[in-house]
Amino acid sequence: MQNIFVTGGAGFIGCNFVRLLLAKYPDYRVIVYDKLTYAGRLENLQDVAAQYPDRYTFVQGDICDADKVNETFQRYDVDTVVNFAAESHVDRSILDPEAFLRTDVMGTYILLEAARKAGNLRYHQISTDEVYGHIHGDHKSVETDNLAPRSPYAASKASGDHFVNAYHITYGLPITISRGANNIGPFQYPEKVIPLFVTNALQDMRLPVYGDGQQMRDYQYVMDHCQGIDLVLHKGVIGESYNIGTGFEMTNLAMVEILLDELGKPRSLIQHVEDRQGHDRRYSLDVRKMLSLGWEPDYSPEEAIRATVRWYVDNRWWWEPIRSGEFQAYYDRVYSQRAVLPTAA
Ligand code: NAD
Ligand code: DAU
Repeated sequence: MQNIFVTGGAGFIGCNFVRLLLAKYPDYRVIVYDKLTYAGRLENLQDVAAQYPDRYTFVQGDICDADKVNETFQRYDVDTVVNFAAESHVDRSILDPEAFLRTDVMGTYILLEAARKAGNLRYHQISTDEVYGHIHGDHKSVETDNLAPRSPYAASKASGDHFVNAYHITYGLPITISRGANNIGPFQYPEKVIPLFVTNALQDMRLPVYGDGQQMRDYQYVMDHCQGIDLVLHKGVIGESYNIGTGFEMTNLAMVEILLDELGKPRSLIQHVEDRQGHDRRYSLDVRKMLSLGWEPDYSPEEAIRATVRWYVDNRWWWEPIRSGEFQAYYDRVYSQRAVLPTAA
């Protein structure tokens, strides 16, 4: 493993993973391949470009562009593919499912086909706990559970997983898949709940909690997730999937209370609004397979939330220009027509 092709490396998790790879493996070269959608930002990697001019390369490209993918594989003698590239936000998938089908399904297929034709390159797929659907009772999702996605985003990611497995079974492509819980930390686009709520609160705007706020999520720190991906990439069993999360969920309301306390802002900023369509009430991962591989998270969900809040407080240079750009039209589209609930539903 030497020339690693990281798709979506200009996005939130991808840029943190690229930092980890370059710092940890002095003999690796990293080729970030990214379309630079609204979520992909070169400023996420500006320190990387300055620190590793000889081992880091950026190529702007679409994973759905087979010619460009093949040409980039050849030019940089790529031997490993890590696919982060995706449309990643559930609310956007409700507004515009087609973009998700295109990138998360078709784009995954194009990468798999390119990896197969290039001589069965090592391929790692970044997936999500959302492919299991919402989880009832005391169950925790294990990697062998049937996939039961419920949003257009989750359905696209689950289709991607099925194609990745099919390429392993049919063509012997050496694949692994990791399914991560909710990531939080530096460089997350402020459409996702925690950066949205922190940046709203810093501007004394209300925090739009969907429905009753009793939905359960496992908020994990992004660097813990990246360390898990690194471990699966290097030590995972070929053909297998791995759940990555803390294994501990909390309600969204509990998350908001920690966030407001860390900021020293009042609970009166909470505003319950009309729920997300088809909202998954609970995700819950069984992470014992990762623990047995030798991984464990450094951050509890509460520590991850507090560290994330502090990053946004300290890095206004990063999010203020975003909030005043494309983001504003998106925010109006999703939130301006949303009914405000009189009390907690
Ligand atoms: P993100 O939206 O921040 O970044 C996505 C990146 O992919 C951006 O840089 C974007 O420009 C790029 N991209 C989008 N379409 C592309 C295309 N057609 N060709 C090339 N590049 C393209 O997403 P993220 O939160 O960093 O998520 C990364 C991956 O991790 C995704 O596959 C997502 O499904 C998965 N995941 C995310 C989370 C989470 O909590 N954020 C949890 C589990 C899994
Ligand atoms: O679980 C992993 C997934 O986590 C990833 O695969 C996705 O890429 C990522 O976006 C995330 O999906 P969620 O839908 O769980 O994350 P989001 O930050 O959008 O929402 C988290 C919870 O907060 C969810 O229950 C919905 C709620 N929420 C979200 C927003 C944006 C609100 O209550 N209000 C909001 O304004």
